[in-house]
Amino acid sequence: MARPTILVTGATGQLGRELALLLLPRGDVIATDRGQLDLADPDAIVAAVRGAKPALIVNAGAYTAVDQAETDAALAHAINGRAPGVLAEEAKRVGAVLIHYSTDYVFDGTRTTPYPEDAPTGPLNVYGASKLAGEQAMIAVGGHALVFRTSWVYGLRGRNFLLTIRRLAAERDELRIVADQIGVPNWCRALAEATVRVVAMGLPALADRAGLYHLSSKGRASWWDFARAIVDDAEKPRIVPISTAEYPLPAQRPAYGVLATERFTTTFGFALPDWRDALARCLASPPEPMPPR
Ligand SMILES: NC(=O)c1ccc[n+]([C@@H]2O[C@H](COP(=O)([O-])OP(=O)(O)OC[C@H]3O[C@@H](n4cnc5c(N)ncnc54)[C@H](OP(=O)(O)O)[C@@H]3O)[C@@H](O)[C@H]2O)c1
Repeated sequence: MARPTILVTGATGQLGRELALLLLPRGDVIATDRGQLDLADPDAIVAAVRGAKPALIVNAGAYTAVDQAETDAALAHAINGRAPGVLAEEAKRVGAVLIHYSTDYVFDGTRTTPYPEDAPTGPLNVYGASKLAGEQAMIAVGGHALVFRTSWVYGLRGRNFLLTIRRLAAERDELRIVADQIGVPNWCRALAEATVRVVAMGLPALADRAGLYHLSSKGRASWWDFARAIVDDAEKPRIVPISTAEYPLPAQRPAYGVLATERFTTTFGFALPDWRDALARCLASPPEPMPPR
């Protein structure tokens, strides 16, 4: 049987990079960065999909600068809100399965128990609103699209909380970290591995399971918990818990963003490990994933 063509967007990002490598055994991967496929340009999306005729599209590209998005809303909406709908249209046209990622920031954070997929949304910032628009555009098209909402993505490359904390811990005696926002850290490799495991079930099985899922490690953490787990050794600086009000940022964040993952587990038959286990694996890992044989 011919190997499927797999189009990956945002392949230089945390998640995209892992996906581009880990999907290699599953097909002929066309890994695109912003220069090769600019998600802000609908014509470029149309041309890329019609040219490649992929059986699977994995959209890991996104505008992820949450604070910058507050003053760059048009671009955030073009990439996060409009592009997913165009991808979905084109995927439907060529008969491709589409996998896309979204965020806990679609919620307002007023719950105190994990958010199920069908909980009412209410983004507090431009980034969250743009990601919500993207989900809705994709679902409105009604093709074989799977949306995986996740949270607090980190890895050993790129821009993320883990790398920031490691850098600051090496420079300072004391770190002041927000302790009143609760969520779940997710290692980008664990998310990519879960995606590949789902893909390995076969594209027809995926097509039958189109819809919205929460894909996240188990457990819960504050940013302060996460920071303590990152620098948990004898050398660590003092990590002082502070409130969100003491660390104002341009974009408001939800106070609570834990995602309930039962739908994913029931549908696909597995769950991600506890976030502390994933973090331990990350900290012990070489920076590049090994593609599975
Ligand atoms: N990071 C998080 O904490 C978090 C939390 C929840 C959900 N998510 C979602 O998870 C997914 C993966 O996030 P991530 O953490 O891997 O993000 P990331 O590391 O910021 O990577 C995003 C990728 O998208 C690319 N990109 C940006 N603008 C683009 C454009 N106009 N055209 C094509 N590519 C473009 C970036 O390229 P450049 O490097 O050239 O900018 C980068 O390669 C996204 O859907 C994100 O919304 C992330």
